[in-house]
This record gives sequence, C-alpha cells and structure tokens, in this order.
Amino acid sequence: MSDPNAGKRAAAYAAADLIQSGTTVGFGTGSTFAFVLERLAARIRDQGLRVRGVATSQQTTELAGKLGIPLAQLDDVTGLDLAIDGADEVDPHKNLIKGGGGAHLRERLVAVMAKELVVIIDDSKLVAQLGRAFLLPVEVVQFGWQQTRKRLAATGCEVVQRQKNGKAFVTDNGNFVLDCRYPGIADAAALQRTLDAMPGVVDHGLFVGMAGRIVVGDAQGRVRIID
Ligand code: A5P
Repeated sequence: MSDPNAGKRAAAYAAADLIQSGTTVGFGTGSTFAFVLERLAARIRDQGLRVRGVATSQQTTELAGKLGIPLAQLDDVTGLDLAIDGADEVDPHKNLIKGGGGAHLRERLVAVMAKELVVIIDDSKLVAQLGRAFLLPVEVVQFGWQQTRKRLAATGCEVVQRQKNGKAFVTDNGNFVLDCRYPGIADAAALQRTLDAMPGVVDHGLFVGMAGRIVVGDAQGRVRIID
C-alpha cells in the first residue's frame, strides 16, 4: 500500500536538508513539520549537524525534546537563519492559510524573525484560491468573544468555534479559535487588513507575502520547489 504521508515526508526531508550547521531555525508546527524534526535528529546523529530551533508550539517543543534537538527562546535570539513550517493551503501567489493546528500566532511571530520562511506541503494543498475548501482560523481573546464572532461574520463568513474533546479549543496563548468559512477569499491582502484591524482578533491564519520557497512533495515522494 502506498504511504499516505509520502508527500509530506519528502517535502519535510528536503527542507531539513537545507539547514546548515551552526544555524538557528524557526521550527513550525504540525504533521508535516514533525518529519523535519525526524530528519534533523538523524542528521545530528549521523552528520554531527549543529543546529538549534525556536519552537512555535508546545507540541513542537515536546517533540524536539524527545528527539534531543536543542531549542532556544525567541527572546534569546537576534534573528533566525530560516524558518520551516507547514500550511493548510497555498495559492498561486504563495499566500497561505495556516492555523489548522491553532499555532498560527506563534508561527507568525517566529516567521517574521527569519531571513526566509520555507513552506513544506504535499501537493494536495496547492489551491487556485484560498478559503474555498479550508476554513480560515482566527485566534480571538476569550473576553467578549461572541461580539468578535459577530464582527467576523459581518465580513461574509460562517463562523464555527473550534472544539477539542467536546470543549472549546484553547491555544497555547490562552485564546479561542474561530474557524471562518468563506465562499473563497478573492482578495487575501484586503481581508488580512480587515482582520488585523478588528478588535478581539489576536491573529489569523492568512499569511500574505510572507512565504519564501514552497517545497512540495507528491505521493511518489518526488519534490519540487516553487521559488
Ligand atoms: C499549525 O497551526 C498550522 O499552521 C500547520 O502548520 C498547518 O496546519 C499544517 O499542518 P499539517 O502539516 O499537519 O497539515
């Protein structure tokens, strides 16, 4: 049987191989990024690679710890040589939807410190227009969140509060996530501006003009890079 993760693994390994010894790297979050850590652990063991990461979530912190990969705090670095992270959707302009795992706030805070954000995806995530299939995650403060929900709905979406194990999902930052179903996001930059200015919104999963190279893996384990 074919490996359902072949594309994710191939993209992640290719990105992990971009990392040079002596560098500090932003570590993303999610099932694709987990393969980067797997590959890095092997490179540290077999090639003596020296690297340290800044993690974007508790999940990544724990996995890196288990694999013995050194971490630094974001406030203790002056910059990052690279950040590597997954995405939920990537459009032809390399704009992204992120936040399927609810880590998008820290992912953005880490990505902006990096010389380049390298995005790793399997080819199922390449889309003609953002938001037609994937709901846009928006992180909101708990205080008055129902009012924020109404403000979000007024932008033309259906809003669903994210749940986990039958309870409201709470991010690593103590906030809620509202997933927004748009008919499609025709102007990602305009929507980003609207959400950036909305009271109650801490951050959202639209990453416009932030991605550097997109590393795409396919089901056969082949990789191509969109510059
Ligand atoms: C985490 O909040 C996200 O931004 C992830 O990077 C994104 O959802 C991709 O996750 P997977 O690699 O698990 O698909």
